[in-house]
Amino acid sequence: MHQDAKFWNRVAKRYAKSPVADQVSYEHKLEVTRGHFTPEMKVLEIGCGTGTTALLHAPHVKHIRATDISENMITIAREKAAAQDIRNVDFEVSAIDDLKIEDESIDMVMAHSILHLVTNRKEVIERVFRMLPPGGLFITSTACLKDALGFLKPLLPVMRLVGFAPKTVEFFTAAQLEQEFRDAGFEVDYNWRPNPKQGVFMVLRKPT
Ligand SMILES: C[S@@+](CC[C@H](N)C(=O)[O-])C[C@H]1O[C@@H](n2cnc3c(N)ncnc32)[C@H](O)[C@@H]1O
Repeated sequence: MHQDAKFWNRVAKRYAKSPVADQVSYEHKLEVTRGHFTPEMKVLEIGCGTGTTALLHAPHVKHIRATDISENMITIAREKAAAQDIRNVDFEVSAIDDLKIEDESIDMVMAHSILHLVTNRKEVIERVFRMLPPGGLFITSTACLKDALGFLKPLLPVMRLVGFAPKTVEFFTAAQLEQEFRDAGFEVDYNWRPNPKQGVFMVLRKPT
């Protein structure tokens, strides 16, 4: 089991019940993402949580493979898919590092609120780049905590101790993240952040 699976399993029910923090921004990100869909697309989502985003996007694409380390998150996601009778999303318990994906086999990869929760971010970005064909898209919303929430870093050990934070939480800036995407070979199609305390939403493209 992944070292952080226990934390995310424990919070899964609460996570499922909590409302989206900023509905207007969320809708904007959904809309921008939808602007890139075609009905034939094969999409991969990493760190899908309880599947809300994958299920909203499902009617617009051929197939979504939605993955997460937490069994409890995936159980809730499968229940939601069944309740909504959505059949083109496969939810799967898997850490990003364990995914077996052929090079250039996925049209779009989504990663929302997850890149700050891995220790090997650059490697993950490089793997995503290889999964995509030329022209393929990586759409990600990422908490860049070092920009406006850096004060949280010294508090992390206490937050972990009382069960408020997982073991892995990385601090970096949006500028750093953008550079890492560029270093991996991506072009930045769109870069949007409603305010410095919120995640940075980026649409990245593998050059053709
Ligand atoms: C903050 S939640 C975001 C969930 C969802 N993407 C969203 O936007 O609501 C982070 C999710 O990433 C998952 N996660 C954390 N580390 C992971 C890893 N290494 N591989 C796959 N999933 C991971 C957690 O289980 C959790 O469901």
